Amino acid sequence: MTNIANNTVLNMMVLHEEALAKLYTVFCEKIPEMRDFWYELVREEKGHAEVLRHLSKKLGGEIKSFNSRKFNVTALATSLDFLSERTDRFQKKGIGILKSLAFALDQEQSMLENKYFEVFESDSPEIRKDLDLLRKHTSKHAGRVKKAMESIKGES
Ligand SMILES: [Fe+2]
Repeated sequence: MTNIANNTVLNMMVLHEEALAKLYTVFCEKIPEMRDFWYELVREEKGHAEVLRHLSKKLGGEIKSFNSRKFNVTALATSLDFLSERTDRFQKKGIGILKSLAFALDQEQSMLENKYFEVFESDSPEIRKDLDLLRKHTSKHAGRVKKAMESIKGES
């Protein structure tokens, strides 16, 4: 795979993190009682986009250190479309607490199940470290969302 294609994949990953930030921004607006919870996730997803953007720049001149053969670009494009379509819908029609949490959990978990951040094979310890950090953060997000969901279910 060429360097350009690698950067395309990384740029799509940036767009995906930004799409999650946008989704959680809508949740901030629509679910004011959980504003702080969603805002923290917005902040972190933006941070993830930044890490990936930085990686993309760093890899600008490299070809061999990054291998994205296993990456399913079509699946990512489909998931991006779905995410932005749903975000628009939630923006227009609103969404309840439990549904917002279930939707977020689904997003974060499917990234983990698809081994989203493990598809790159890299010789560079620095790159591996960045991707590993993103994976760990995503796993924490899933955990936090799940916990919030359980506590709300417990209240009702
Ligand atoms: Fe996340």
